[in-house]
Amino acid sequence: MSAAQRLDDADPPAEWFVQAALGFHRHSTYGNFPEPAPAGLLPGSGTGGAPDDADAPPPGADGAPRHGGPEELVRLVAGRRSRRTRTGRLSARSLTRALGAALAPDPATGRYPYPSAGGCYAVSLHAVVQDVAGLARGVHPWDPATGALAPRRPDADADVPGLLRTTVIRPSQVQAVLMLTADLEVYGARYGERGYRYALLEAGHMGQNLTLALHLLGIANCPVGGFLDDRAARLLHPDRPLLLPVYGVVLP
Ligand SMILES: Cc1cc2nc3c(=O)[nH]c(=O)nc-3n(C[C@H](O)[C@H](O)[C@H](O)COP(=O)(O)O)c2cc1C
Repeated sequence: MSAAQRLDDADPPAEWFVQAALGFHRHSTYGNFPEPAPAGLLPGSGTGGAPDDADAPPPGADGAPRHGGPEELVRLVAGRRSRRTRTGRLSARSLTRALGAALAPDPATGRYPYPSAGGCYAVSLHAVVQDVAGLARGVHPWDPATGALAPRRPDADADVPGLLRTTVIRPSQVQAVLMLTADLEVYGARYGERGYRYALLEAGHMGQNLTLALHLLGIANCPVGGFLDDRAARLLHPDRPLLLPVYGVVLP
């Protein structure tokens, strides 16, 4: 049976993963959860929530964009690809530079370089450092406010081979893994059943920014969904069951 025929079928195939995915999709509807209307997100509604510049003039004095148009994006993304072998030795400086460019809010405006449903911004990053010049081996939380990686947590070792579950990356040769963790308490309070879906989407936006910033710094990287969820959760947030590791970027 072709994929097209399958899509046309009234009854979806009975494979468990299809049923589970459809179940997740149905569950992540609004249901009875009220549509939130955060103050500040509607044009002209003033302060509150994420800063809103919908009323602000477009970039450039004459309204012309301050960039080279979509072709600039084509040039930027053209060289990006997943790289699973090392291109060079990673340093604390280049790593924090990439993190700052990809994820840190603008200090002047507080605006983040990626979107977040309802301005929740509740996906956080930890660097699981195995071998980076200038950083101790271990788990380093990243602070978006300062753009800095905190000192390693004393209670967690960087067991990258125990963390990854992917056959095409050699865990022992990985310099670091950047792990993205969603705070389900925040998304759940705001969006109910739909919160987990939004958290995944936000992590995807962050992952794209990260891969592009790393690429522009010449740092080999590979997005990774293949990690052991329970081990990641124990490693990153042993006492916080609603902080869910959802995505990662491996720096080989
Ligand atoms: C959500 C997601 C999960 C991924 N997980 C893994 C993984 O666990 N291991 C791996 O080697 N690559 C992983 N990748 C990388 C893909 O294999 C890669 O993006 C794809 O083959 C396309 O190649 P490109 O990134 O070079 O364009 C993942 C990519 C995405 C978007």
